[in-house]
Amino acid sequence: MTLTLQQIQLVRTPEGLPLESDFALHTATLPAPADGQVHVRVLALSLDPYLRSAMAGRHLSAPILPGDVVRGEGLVEVITSRHPRMQAGERWVAACGWRSEALLDGDAVAQARPVAREIDPPTLALGVLGMPGLTAWAGFKLLADAKPGDTLVVSAASGPVGATVGQLARLAGCRVVGIAGGPEKCAWVMNEAKFDACIDHRAGDLRAALKQHCPKGIDIYFDNVGGDVLQAACEQLALGARIVLCGLIAQYGGAAPAGPNPGLFIRARATVRGLVVYDHWARLAEAQAEIGAHLRAGRLAVREDASRGLASAPAAFGRLMRGLNQGKALVVL
Ligand SMILES: NC(=O)c1ccc[n+]([C@@H]2O[C@H](COP(=O)([O-])OP(=O)(O)OC[C@H]3O[C@@H](n4cnc5c(N)ncnc54)[C@H](OP(=O)(O)O)[C@@H]3O)[C@@H](O)[C@H]2O)c1
Repeated sequence: MTLTLQQIQLVRTPEGLPLESDFALHTATLPAPADGQVHVRVLALSLDPYLRSAMAGRHLSAPILPGDVVRGEGLVEVITSRHPRMQAGERWVAACGWRSEALLDGDAVAQARPVAREIDPPTLALGVLGMPGLTAWAGFKLLADAKPGDTLVVSAASGPVGATVGQLARLAGCRVVGIAGGPEKCAWVMNEAKFDACIDHRAGDLRAALKQHCPKGIDIYFDNVGGDVLQAACEQLALGARIVLCGLIAQYGGAAPAGPNPGLFIRARATVRGLVVYDHWARLAEAQAEIGAHLRAGRLAVREDASRGLASAPAAFGRLMRGLNQGKALVVL
């Protein structure tokens, strides 16, 4: 028996922002699962900014090269299992790649994470109860050294990492200022995620707005974008500030910018921490328990930006890299 599936390949390395024509959808066949293999159906794909950096060969993980099926995690359902770790009918988050079905084995089985039936909708296991949620939790709880009353600023504030950081900070008694692109995102950050302020970095003077909303300076800056937004936030640091460097989306597709000026760290006697979510997998259950409790109590808002069908993945990924996603970027198959 052979399995027929759809999959998306990278056909060329994107230049700058990714285009749909950088990808191609193909039909492929796979053999039936052998011993140690698991045949899964992909229910939803997680689109994550690091994939662009992997396509440029700059990410900590292996590069994604022309001809490769695009890598990435998804919510999968087991159809047939010939591995003792997984049983038919179970849902897992696994490295399935951009495919409609996949055969998992080796590391993909060992590193897959079960999705509890209580997680509703189960796609939350790709967002606030998965890798982006753990990133936010670890960065805020373990690296930011936050105290009640601190002013925390976070960029990409309406995305799964930024929105979770800001809301955990609000619940810990911080004053929270978001930076997001466009009035619609800023309205969600203010009205649903209940930040104290949100600055639209695509309109007006970012530096003047940071001064206005952080008159005593920024105690914690959680950076998701790099580039000029990082430089501008560092110009407004308070004495003893902590900076959590999480993401550099502004430079995933191009040359690295020069800043920020290290003199700004000296002046503020600042502590700079680099965050890599892979260091914190062992604490996923702790993060899920805390974030899950806030979700169930209605204290934490989430939103998902789901496009439909595997063929929509390249366009949806392009939207994510242009800042046009409204919440956690997903493809529901
Ligand atoms: N360190 C780690 O281990 C780790 C783990 C997970 C994620 N990350 C990083 O965390 C960041 C957020 O991830 P996410 O999944 O929550 O993504 P996300 O916020 O849903 O999407 C990325 C957002 O970045 C903003 N953006 C894109 N290009 C930009 C530019 N040139 N300048 C300023 N902002 C830009 C856009 O938001 P606006 O329109 O609001 O600006 C876009 O919606 C990413 O940089 C990601 O790589 C790091």
